[in-house]
Amino acid sequence: MKQTIHLIAAARPNFMKIAPLYHALARETWCRVAIVHTGQHYDANMSDTFFRDLRLPDPAFHLDVGSGSHGQQTGAVMIAYESVVERDRPDWLVVVGDVNSTIAAALVGVKLGIPTVHLEAGLRSRDRSMPEEINRLATDAIADVLWTPSRDADANLLAEGVAPERIECIGNIMIDSYEMLRATIEQAGTRRELQLDGQPYGVVTLHRPSNVDTRDALEPLVQVLADAAQRLPLVFAVHPRTRKRLTDFALQDRLIDAGVRLVDPLSYVQFMNLVTGARVVITDSGGVQEETTYLGIPCLTLRDNTERPITVTEGSNRLVQPATLGAAIDVALQSSGRRGSRPELWDGHAAERAVASLRRRASIAT
Ligand code: UD1
Repeated sequence: MKQTIHLIAAARPNFMKIAPLYHALARETWCRVAIVHTGQHYDANMSDTFFRDLRLPDPAFHLDVGSGSHGQQTGAVMIAYESVVERDRPDWLVVVGDVNSTIAAALVGVKLGIPTVHLEAGLRSRDRSMPEEINRLATDAIADVLWTPSRDADANLLAEGVAPERIECIGNIMIDSYEMLRATIEQAGTRRELQLDGQPYGVVTLHRPSNVDTRDALEPLVQVLADAAQRLPLVFAVHPRTRKRLTDFALQDRLIDAGVRLVDPLSYVQFMNLVTGARVVITDSGGVQEETTYLGIPCLTLRDNTERPITVTEGSNRLVQPATLGAAIDVALQSSGRRGSRPELWDGHAAERAVASLRRRASIAT
């Protein structure tokens, strides 16, 4: 009998983490892998295009939970996933990242006695006002196996008293997705279509509640981007949450008038085509901090902290404030600016290590 593995996919940053694992597990003869999409992200350009780009099949189960408050979203995933498990009980459950669906599915799996693995465990911002930090802490506290992306994450878990045998450093699996699609990304036409080929430009993404949900936070960011656009063409790929706030606070025109190019969320391949040609990336996303570190592209992160400090200590990332962004862009534009180095095990082979870990834990002979 084949063992069944459920991979939980929920929101945009999850898809590039489950794709390499899905493809690696699909090649194994001892298991059957099923993707469970919670529906936390449901717009075509937040979900479907990622499944297409990453060559993922349609999910085996779709929970269709949609948006809502944290309680509504987390509760809806728990109720819906529990009923999936009643019909198709997996031998292993893999949850990824730090979104509400991650902790929700982990709670269901662990309580039903299903061995549960957290992919991208051990990251800590130490900022408990971030919903993602609560999701990370809670998921790591209950999951059976903790797959970490880097050694600093191991150290965080050990300092919290986690037993070493629960921790395995497999490396950064997002890099596997990039390497799988590198040629397609290079051939994609985003830069050409935006007429940016061959000229310096910056890419912007912002969606953290702390940056976009209040006018007090968002307006200074809009102003500093409008100022920066006078020196460097900027393309801003606007997350749905941010689009809504820019409209609510009537700030969108300030960006457009300053020449900032606002585009809808891009697919993975389209976005990475844009990023690989950028002189600088301005973001508050977690994944983008890692992708730019891998690519050696200066990244300016508009946050007070990061759960990915290795991107600062080893990579090309810097934490900035609205007041320091302008000067940081100038430094990043100097060709002598620091480009950093690639952290250990960010090598495109994380999925292989993850599969080897599962095989060993499932006692499957190779
Ligand atoms: C979620 C994650 C965050 C991750 C981010 C990536 C949590 C707590 N947060 O934040 O960690 O970095 O995804 O994007 O899980 N919306 C749409 N279409 C969609 C999805 C969302 O319009 O396909 C709208 C919703 O209606 C809502 C807003 O975007 O107004 C926020 O969506 P939600 O998934 O709750 O949180 P994110 O801000 O995307």
